[in-house]
Order: sequence, then C-alpha cells, then structure tokens
Amino acid sequence: MTGKTKKVRKAVLPVAGLGTRFLPATKAIPKEMLTVVDKPLIQYAVEECIASGIEHVIFVTGRRKNAIEDHFDLAPELESFLEQHGKHDAARMVHEISGGLRISYTRQSEALGLGHAVLCAAELVGDEPFAVLLGDVIMDGPVPATRELIEICEETGAGAIHVERVPRERVHLYGIVDAAPEKNSRWGDRLLRVKNLVEKPSAEKAPSNLGVTGRYVLPPEIFDYLATTKPGTGGEIQLTDGLCRLAEANKLFACIYEGKTYDAGDKLGFLEATVEMALKNPKLGKDFRTYLRGLNL
Ligand code: G1P
Repeated sequence: MTGKTKKVRKAVLPVAGLGTRFLPATKAIPKEMLTVVDKPLIQYAVEECIASGIEHVIFVTGRRKNAIEDHFDLAPELESFLEQHGKHDAARMVHEISGGLRISYTRQSEALGLGHAVLCAAELVGDEPFAVLLGDVIMDGPVPATRELIEICEETGAGAIHVERVPRERVHLYGIVDAAPEKNSRWGDRLLRVKNLVEKPSAEKAPSNLGVTGRYVLPPEIFDYLATTKPGTGGEIQLTDGLCRLAEANKLFACIYEGKTYDAGDKLGFLEATVEMALKNPKLGKDFRTYLRGLNL
C-alpha cells in the first residue's frame, strides 16, 4: 500500500451504446436490460459493485435508456401491492435492488466512443481513483472482479485492468495488451505490467492474446489523457488509447482473471451466460440440468 492512494468509492458504468449487435431485441429495449435468467444484465455489474465495496455508481446513459433509471429507482406502488398481497420477500427484493448505493446519471449525447463516455463522468468522479465496468460483460469467479482490481490499485497506486486469453480469431474484438509478468507480487504470475495496448488489432498485429475484459480501476489522471485523445479505431475516442498513456507513465497493471468472463453483448456469449448462470441458480439449477441432459445432444 502506498498510503497515498485514495480509497476507490465510485464506479462508472457506460450504458449509452446502441446495442446494434443485438438487434432486433434492442430496437426498443436497452441491451443492458436484456434478461440473463432472472435479472437484467446491468444488475450483475451493479451487484459486482456492491460486492466490491463501491459506494457510488455513475451511469453514463443516453437516449432511450430510461428503463435503466426506472429499474434502479424505488417503486412504491409495486412494493405496497406486493406487501398487500403477502409477497414480503418480493417486496424486499424490489426495495433493495440498488443495495444502498448512491446512483447518479449523466449523459453521453453523441456516440463518440468508450473513452468519451468515461470522460463524460469526470466531474462526478472528481480527483479520486474509480472503477469502470462494461455492463454487457459478466465476470463470475471466486473474487468479485472489481474488488480484485481495487486491491491492486490500492496496493500499487497504479491503474489495473483485467485480461483473459482469447483465441487468435477473436483478438480483433478486444483491446489487446503487451505486458510482462510483475515479479514478487501477491497475485503471482497473474499480475502483469502493461507496456502498451492496441485496440482491436488484426491477428497478425496483436502483441499477445491477452484481451481486455471490461473491468478497469483507474487513477483520475486518465481524464487528462482522455481529454486530449484523438479519435482512434473506428473513428471513436478509445479508452484503450488513454490507457496507453497510463502504461507509458508506467502506471498500469493487467491481471489475468481467475474466473469466467461472459461477453453477453454478443449473442453466443449471452447464451453461454444464460445457460451457465441458470445451471448455478439455486432454485433452477437442478431441474435445468435434468432438462439439458434430456436433450441428448
Ligand atoms: C470494448 C473495449 C475493448 C474491450 C472490450 C471488452 O470494446 O473498447 O478494449 O476489450 O470492450 O468487451 P467493445 O466490445 O465495446 O467494442
């Protein structure tokens, strides 16, 4: 612990994207509100925030995303209806959906990229380190992903991101890191010091097969870098390009996550998340497993 690092209290969740990979489902519904088993996708990220000790969630939202605000707001009519009908557990569940978090909303009015979306939260975050969680990614493992990154940031004073090994034919879908193992850390050979990153490279140009999963804990100077970052891959202001500047300053670690990452913004990834989360669900898991076995695939 450097002693100088402020506590990580805030998380930014960019949710302004148009969800084009999931049309037609996302024509009228935000992709973050698609249901995985019994909860909208975005609730998995919010629950990860709660489990990681985050106190304040900042949604960077956009047009047609009101359902997200409604989901995390109180619903007094629904709660009293449930109470009157003796459904006390359901009433409590609805009441506690945001787990006591403070929630703020700000808007990204134009789709100028993930880096720009994070920059939109600069004023609400202020001068302290913060987490970023991509809402269409579910991270499931022994330790909440964001909590692990917070521990790395608080111990090293640097930024931290999770990475996972991705097949060569998929590297063009990720930010890819060029990184070397960090010796003598308590995260063992899972902790790497990042030298450089490339957003969505071709398989030939990728510096490794370690893809950025969608979980970040960053120092506030990332905002200065993003404010001067020019549009990059796809003509967008890329968070990855801001991260390159942190890496140049020797202030970025990557950690290989010890759990499973589902890219649920992708149709196949969404189905994988649905099947595996259903199998783990205490109420549904047993029957669902029996059902799958009966398919005799
Ligand atoms: C974003 C990031 C990319 C990261 C990916 C993880 O891309 O730009 O670096 O690897 O999320 O899902 P997107 O999937 O939004 O195109």
